[in-house]
Amino acid sequence: MKRFLSVILSAVLLLTAFIPCVYAKNDSASLKFDENGKFKIMLIADTHYTDQVYDECTEFFNLVLDDEKPDLVVFMGDNVKGYWVGSTPMSVKSAISQLVEPVAERNIPYTAIYGNHDYQTLVAKSLQTKYFNMYDSCIMENGYTYLHRKANCSYLIKDSKGEKDIYNLITLDSGTKDAEEKLMPVLTQQIDWYKETVSSLKEKNGGEVIPSIVFQHIPIYEVEKLFEKSDETNENAVKCSAIANPGYYVLKDGVDGELRGSPKVPYTNTGEYDAFAQMGDVKGVFFAHDHKNTYCGTTDDGIMLGAVPTSSFQSSGDNDLRGVRIIELDENDLNKIETRCVFYEDYKDEDVSWKGGNYP
Ligand SMILES: [Fe+2]
Repeated sequence: MKRFLSVILSAVLLLTAFIPCVYAKNDSASLKFDENGKFKIMLIADTHYTDQVYDECTEFFNLVLDDEKPDLVVFMGDNVKGYWVGSTPMSVKSAISQLVEPVAERNIPYTAIYGNHDYQTLVAKSLQTKYFNMYDSCIMENGYTYLHRKANCSYLIKDSKGEKDIYNLITLDSGTKDAEEKLMPVLTQQIDWYKETVSSLKEKNGGEVIPSIVFQHIPIYEVEKLFEKSDETNENAVKCSAIANPGYYVLKDGVDGELRGSPKVPYTNTGEYDAFAQMGDVKGVFFAHDHKNTYCGTTDDGIMLGAVPTSSFQSSGDNDLRGVRIIELDENDLNKIETRCVFYEDYKDEDVSWKGGNYP
């Protein structure tokens, strides 16, 4: 009898994993600069969650969310550990639930993009999007879809009076590796979608472009615009083997943060950066994937490029650089982006159950 009941229970649980969750009650219309004209975004990247989430990750997110009080959280991809042996739709749903819970229980709007490891789960990304939408404050949509590229979206932020859309947040699905294990680029179809979206917003805005930020998992091809060639005799130089022009590099003057390992950019350039520069709306591009890089600087075209480190202890990384990135916008100067990282290290003195560096 016991066995029979457990089979029934398992079947019911498995079925519920496939039932679409309640869809978002909030939408991007809820995004608005606050009464002081500010809008704060918190980026959480490469958490590589399973259904066994470390307490310290949840505790860290709780502390930072309470201190920073962001207006939006963006999960930057590799949200779940797609290579996790034995994962099921139920356990992936549980992993996503535990990931978004600290944000959702504070009723903070959130969205997500997909990383290469999110492609590896047995759960279709459209279903993962539904799992993200299990809480009311989720604004994530499947958005523009081309082949497997999902959650290509534009989320508009209204001014502090709630009257006019004045800022645009663009999320792109930067894909995964191809059959030869090479990182795919953002596809030209996605770039076309981006251009059409921006043109249409510009038209609706009386011919004036709406400034924007782009979020994607894989670093943009042009990251080396922030680097300066060096050589291996320079002890500060980093061997960058997975960028367009491999070699030893240091960060250019004026670039903040750390270059700890080679950024891993797509194997080819589909013209994404040039499209951003041509359209003139993109003020910043933020990306993840490399886990231990935090560099951030502005190119000669006026586009800020910023790396987000891993935000959990459940992925590889450098322990002193595990944390989140904060972005602050000001409606009185929409060309300006203020940004910084907040690390676990910053909270070491708090009463948190640090395990530190337990990389499974
Ligand atoms: Fe990752």
